[in-house]
Amino acid sequence: MMGSDVHVVILAAGQGTRMKSQLPKVLHQIAGRSLLEHVLQTANAVAPATVTVIVGHGADQVRKSVGIRPNVGFAVQEPQLGTAHALQQAESRLAERQGTVVLLSGDVPMLSADTLRRLLDAHHDAGAAATVVTSIVDRPYGYGRIVRSRGRIARIVEERDASPAVRQIREINSGIYAFDLAPLFEALRAIASQNAQGEYYLTDLVAIYRRRKKPVETLMVANPDEIRGINSRSELAEVSRIVRQNKNEELMAAGVTLVDPATTYIDPDVEVGADTVIHPGVSLEGHTRIGNACEIQAHVRIVDSTIGAHVAVNSFSLIAGARVADGATIGPFAHLRAESVVREKAKVGNFVELKNTTLGPGSKANHHAYLGDAAIGANVNIGAGTIICNYDGTTKHQTSIEDDAFIGSDTQLIAPVTVGRGAYVGTGTTVRENVPPGALAVSAGKQRNIEGWVARKRATDKT
Ligand code: UD1
Ligand code: CA
Repeated sequence: MMGSDVHVVILAAGQGTRMKSQLPKVLHQIAGRSLLEHVLQTANAVAPATVTVIVGHGADQVRKSVGIRPNVGFAVQEPQLGTAHALQQAESRLAERQGTVVLLSGDVPMLSADTLRRLLDAHHDAGAAATVVTSIVDRPYGYGRIVRSRGRIARIVEERDASPAVRQIREINSGIYAFDLAPLFEALRAIASQNAQGEYYLTDLVAIYRRRKKPVETLMVANPDEIRGINSRSELAEVSRIVRQNKNEELMAAGVTLVDPATTYIDPDVEVGADTVIHPGVSLEGHTRIGNACEIQAHVRIVDSTIGAHVAVNSFSLIAGARVADGATIGPFAHLRAESVVREKAKVGNFVELKNTTLGPGSKANHHAYLGDAAIGANVNIGAGTIICNYDGTTKHQTSIEDDAFIGSDTQLIAPVTVGRGAYVGTGTTVRENVPPGALAVSAGKQRNIEGWVARKRATDKT
């Protein structure tokens, strides 16, 4: 069953003491998204009628990060008295509802959509009151243990409350469950807080249901990575590594060469075409798309950008919010900022910065330049040290450089200004007025040579 009868509740009120952070735990990021965002995206897989996020520690920050979304609401847990108490806060939002509650943990970000769907199927097929997602792990430390009797789940015991014998159990509670909504909130009231942490443990619901002869089932996931919880920075790093590794594997299977996957950082939404080669230390972030047969050299960072096919991006370049067309060459040490467009076969060389600028097809800015708020046509040559002075202290102005123009080195173009088609701007020119098509612009005065000046200076210096 999916859709209208499924209600997702996400626990995200805890402080996350072990993170030692000002930031609420669920807002820490993995692969460019908060833990909570990963969980919200997985929740969408079962098309829930409602999603309730339980907030408490850093509630405003957590709310703000989620923003306004259809079907997503919040319930405040204050103070935070444990996971059962957290779920209780969803009661008023679900009062008039029926169906199934899927409980997710804001700190378990890798759960797959497939597992969530299987959880619902298993829960409904068995007609269970509760179904617990479990897994068998090598290092169960810190997790609640699944205690079985005659093969069936009897109860869940938290690490801190476990006897040495129970601690040996390697089947753990993922903190993810499906519950029949009808008996749930009444049963939660039966949970007490007599345990090592003095908290109301949701896990106690299992024993309560068993006593009341209500069917409790388990769904065991084969890959325990999916249900890893994050409680510390070290676990955050470990899970980040796994998420990254999964993405890297997916890309390699699709024909992308990663020279050193261990040092390649690619966010989940990034797309890369076949036969592209990615060198060590590269970061591809956000909604970046890269075409086929590109060469992305070491230590390049690309954020929310689109790169065509057969593009070479040389080392230490930063590209953010830009578009680069087929066959272009970028870097080394180039900086393409928001709204920059580099057209087919254009070249942006070292220490060149583009902002809100289009560099036309076949045009070149090979060394040391700042090109801001400009439309640059085809086959234009931008000399070394060219600066577009786009900002007068209050307003940004536009510059237009038409096809086939040649801008000599060390030129300043004071915007707004237009350099006409095929025009030449001499080296060292300060362009304050439009240059007509085909004209030569020079602004420096005539050169003056003073004969014997050095010798005379030396003589006076000695006296
Ligand atoms: C919990 C489970 C444990 C399971 C593990 C899986 C309990 C008692 N224990 O332990 O069996 O193996 O998850 O990762 O349920 N939270 C609230 N309000 C609270 C307390 C917690 O919203 O008052 C939220 C936290 O923000 C977190 C989640 O619930 O997102 C789990 O809480 P946490 O304290 O991390 O529980 P664990 O000790 O990991
Ligand atoms: Ca946890």
